[in-house]
Amino acid sequence: MQLIEYRNHFYKELKTVYSLTEIQIFLKRLVKYYFDWDPTFIAIHPNYALSQSETAQLDFVLLELKKNKPIQYILNETFFMGHSFYVDESVLIPRPETEELVSWMLSDFPLSKDKLNVLDIGTGSGCIPIVLAIENLNLNITAIDVSHLALEVAKKNAKIHDADVNFIQKDITTLSNWDQSLDVIVSNPPYIMPEEKKEMLLNVLNYEPHLALFTPEDDSLFFYKKIIAFAEINLKTKGVLYFEINPKYIGALKKMISSYSFKDIVVGNDIFGKNRMLKAIKK
Ligand SMILES: C[S@@+](CC[C@H](N)C(=O)[O-])C[C@H]1O[C@@H](n2cnc3c(N)ncnc32)[C@H](O)[C@@H]1O
Repeated sequence: MQLIEYRNHFYKELKTVYSLTEIQIFLKRLVKYYFDWDPTFIAIHPNYALSQSETAQLDFVLLELKKNKPIQYILNETFFMGHSFYVDESVLIPRPETEELVSWMLSDFPLSKDKLNVLDIGTGSGCIPIVLAIENLNLNITAIDVSHLALEVAKKNAKIHDADVNFIQKDITTLSNWDQSLDVIVSNPPYIMPEEKKEMLLNVLNYEPHLALFTPEDDSLFFYKKIIAFAEINLKTKGVLYFEINPKYIGALKKMISSYSFKDIVVGNDIFGKNRMLKAIKK
């Protein structure tokens, strides 16, 4: 089959599931990933005759995309702050909002001359601590997750990037004391309530780990409460707590943090101007 014919077939098969722009992005990404063709290859070589194995490769992905499977899980790859990360269905696909949280942290850290003790809670793919370790060598970073499978992925990513991060399996709901006092705690915990399942997109609901998405109870701040209580004990005076959060709950989170020993609560916006992250200093 000629490339142009395959492109038309690909568009036709997926147009009920995705927008035209999304389909174009998928095809360009696939041919780059599998065949190392530049994004312009299809336009320049429309009559290129696809081999049987090339067609079979694309057909396999087409079938998966039709079932709403995220392309990142099909290719086992996503990008976070320009770095390639291995992902599979045991971890959340890192989101652009989280990149902004990490940029915020990195812009704060150059102020410190001493090596800071940092803890990431609910690390998933390890995207937060690994990029912190790559970009700032003056950090002593530990990351925890309750999921053994997620930690395997995070360790694999740390190895790929030669990042010095200590990964430990821990459940934040039962953790109270940490063996060193911490300068920084960061978390992007699950905050979707089980009752919100019905409003979710199928590509998220059917493929991303529910452990990474949902709170165990109908309380969107369930994990934030646990983490704040943990930070109250283990964060040093003047230590910083960073959270990513759904803009809907930022008011409630601010109120909750203020009732503990925290001051200078600052809310950060994402690129769409939405209140998406928060930092607070331990008194
Ligand atoms: C929203 S995901 C965030 C993943 C990653 N930090 C990111 O930003 O892409 C939340 C993570 O918290 C982990 N998690 C869920 N319950 C937990 C618990 N009780 N203790 C520790 N981690 C937990 C999940 O396994 C998941 O990896």
